[in-house]
Amino acid sequence: MSDLSSENKLPHSIESLKELVDSLTEGERVTFSRIMNSIDIPKKAFDEIDSWSHDCYTRNCIAQGDEFELILLCWENGQASPIHDHGGEECWVKIIEGEFEETLYKKDQAGELNMVKRTRATSGDVTYMVDFMGYHRLENLSDKRSLSLHLYAKPIRSCHVYNEELETFVLKDLSYDTVAETSSLNDNDPIKYVRIK
Ligand SMILES: [Fe+2]
Repeated sequence: MSDLSSENKLPHSIESLKELVDSLTEGERVTFSRIMNSIDIPKKAFDEIDSWSHDCYTRNCIAQGDEFELILLCWENGQASPIHDHGGEECWVKIIEGEFEETLYKKDQAGELNMVKRTRATSGDVTYMVDFMGYHRLENLSDKRSLSLHLYAKPIRSCHVYNEELETFVLKDLSYDTVAETSSLNDNDPIKYVRIK
């Protein structure tokens, strides 16, 4: 019988997508940060999921439910998101491959949008964002394709996106480029994905 307390247990690493989805399904929001920091999934596990577009980074749904949404974003060289909020939800990003710049913005008392800081994140890093921190923009800085894994709790169906021409935020409904066949999450088979676009 083990006498290890929970504090003494070795960190548990999450080594497959199924294990990750199971952990999120069984976990609660307070455990999501630890789960995202425990991910040690081989990059090749994402080979079946990725999809690419020269027009825009793609959003590929791995799992979604009432409590969370797990999405793989695939970025061609130089692709960037617009400045956006997170629909009142929490967002964790695990960099799977590549180097990203995150630019943080806040509105001042006059309602003007100001850049607050720029940070870089590379493979293995986990970043966090929630609306009281402001707005952000992500850009793939590396000279090749990059992957980032996004966890939202709860799922984000729409968010405010900054329109550069109108110089204001507009509400945008969010969609997926590909989505998982969720029935395969219930057995030991690799997760399969279908293209919906
Ligand atoms: Fe974001």
